[in-house]
Amino acid sequence: MAERTGAAERATDDSVRTLAIDIGGSGIKAITLDRQGKPLTKRVRVPTPRPATPKAVVRTVCRLAKMQPGFDRVSAGFPGVVKDGVVYSAPNLSKRWDSFDLQKALQNKLERPVRVANDAAVQGAGAVSGRGLELVITLGTGFGSALFADGRRIALELGHHPFHKGRTYEQELGARALAKKGRKKWMAYLREAIDDLKRTFNYDRLYIGGGNAKYIRFDLPSGVKVVRNIDGLLGGIALWSESETQHSAPPPPARRHPRRARRTRVDGARASAEKPERTQAAASAEAGTHTPATESPGDKLA
Ligand code: BGC
Repeated sequence: MAERTGAAERATDDSVRTLAIDIGGSGIKAITLDRQGKPLTKRVRVPTPRPATPKAVVRTVCRLAKMQPGFDRVSAGFPGVVKDGVVYSAPNLSKRWDSFDLQKALQNKLERPVRVANDAAVQGAGAVSGRGLELVITLGTGFGSALFADGRRIALELGHHPFHKGRTYEQELGARALAKKGRKKWMAYLREAIDDLKRTFNYDRLYIGGGNAKYIRFDLPSGVKVVRNIDGLLGGIALWSESETQHSAPPPPARRHPRRARRTRVDGARASAEKPERTQAAASAEAGTHTPATESPGDKLA
């Protein structure tokens, strides 16, 4: 278990430490950050347990936490629909996650305050500028997405939305599609997806993250850029600088008729006039000044 001495004192001053966790389809990563989002430890990665049940994943996160020197609070990015820390889907992990309160489970085990959000939303929080309409997509095991309106995050599930000949973004651009179709075809679909998303969202900027973004070998249109994989962890600090309203209890997602379930789901879009504080992680990511600890831009996310 993480060191307890001094945690209460640190939580009130600048030395507060955040354990940032990124739960992916093939790996779970951890790093400890200072209040500004600067890495204090090396990033560690362990394989995602199989089957990736809630119990097995929580156990793995606790194992990673024990490897860290000590922390006062925890942020976790999770590859599925998350509302108020409760998971409602985990397409690339296991069916056992529906309605699992991951935030509470981790809080009980780690004995620290925990915030859990969708992985693409956390990745985006570490990358966006906080101005205008910014879309984030992640290319890993799955296809993640999140929208930021003047820095306020709105979780999206574009991955399961039909994109190409009735197949979803995730079916055409996820890790399985890349392995099956090869990079050339995957890139052709990605170009198409970028155009498609521009027409749909009219975003000011599009950020592309995830471990497979390293395979992009074409000139991206203006306003589109690849972000470093480490942002998936550095964004964890942003969860703690967001206004409390983003973390208040929302209603659970409505159960949909199965035939309509493939339509885009917009989760967590709660209105607030409050704008989250812009984090050091976001500012330095924009300026390209993050120190990526032990990770290179192309490291595998999922
Ligand atoms: C999930 C998303 C997640 C993405 C990337 C998708 O299958 O539905 O919630 O963000 O994978 O992990």
